[in-house]
Amino acid sequence: MMRHLISAADLSRDDAVLILDTAEEMARVADRPIKKLPALRGRTVVNLFFEDSTRTRISFEAAEKRLSADVINFAAKGSSVSKGESLKDTAQTLEAMGVDAVVIRHGASGAPYNLATSGWIDAAVINAGDGTHQHPTQALLDAFTMRRRLIGPDAGLGQDLGGKRITIVGDVLHSRVARSNVDLLHTLGAEVTLVAPPTLVPVGVENWPCEVSYSLDQVLAKSDAVMMLRVQRERMNAAFFPTEREYARRYGLDGERMAKMPEHAIVMHPGPMVRGMEITAEVADSERCTAIEQVAGGVHTRMAVLYLLLGGNEPAGAPATRTEESK
Ligand code: NCD
Repeated sequence: MMRHLISAADLSRDDAVLILDTAEEMARVADRPIKKLPALRGRTVVNLFFEDSTRTRISFEAAEKRLSADVINFAAKGSSVSKGESLKDTAQTLEAMGVDAVVIRHGASGAPYNLATSGWIDAAVINAGDGTHQHPTQALLDAFTMRRRLIGPDAGLGQDLGGKRITIVGDVLHSRVARSNVDLLHTLGAEVTLVAPPTLVPVGVENWPCEVSYSLDQVLAKSDAVMMLRVQRERMNAAFFPTEREYARRYGLDGERMAKMPEHAIVMHPGPMVRGMEITAEVADSERCTAIEQVAGGVHTRMAVLYLLLGGNEPAGAPATRTEESK
């Protein structure tokens, strides 16, 4: 297993399947009365968030605590970063305090890579989203949810997503979720189609391992999962489509469109959802929408990543037995 997790593209098929299988073990721990494992006891993990986050931040914190790590939360707002302190100085401050892992979210693409390779710190670095670049744990939790729903929690063990057809819809241009998913889903053998208005399709997409379509209606019937993306207004400096209504009409998922999907197919969303824009309330609240399951799976998947990166070498379920005996 690698030392850092910077990009979904760095994961081999076997690494990714190991993370998903370990996440299933972590999910079983969550069903026990005592949800904690001692795996990271005595290790310190810092959550270094320079950009807003709800799900990712809370789910990393829950994962770290369930593994018994000491957790430090750092939000750039309210810290010396607002006084102009650089990433290097912030990182070295953390290093001086003896941290074992840094979970970092940053507005600049490449910040986690810099942190991991600069020599500023010794800690393992986990990318929790950098600019429009990568969000590898999101892709892993999405794959975890797809494997559970499309194959099954037990039947899926050891399996990849070979032959599954996944459609990713919306603001691909500004989406680190889309980039990470394209990389990981390709590694896992799935066939990916991106659907977006031409203005929101990145330059160079022809070199990505996926197809591109401009018509959502044409691809729905051949999708096993349809992943909706939020329009990233905070990253836009121009008008990329005429009006919200026009966007919703062509690229939004409503009940009528959802009915065109095969019966087994699921609707996914990384959150935060903008109801009425990329997804209607009817679809968001339907049984077929896995947004909440994705959040739950996020804790299990992040536990697996932390456990494997920080040197877990016993089967993940094993230490829990000891916890229960020693309680
Ligand atoms: C995404 C992100 O921050 O990249 N959300 C998440 O991590 N769950 C997607 C988004 O903000 O739209």
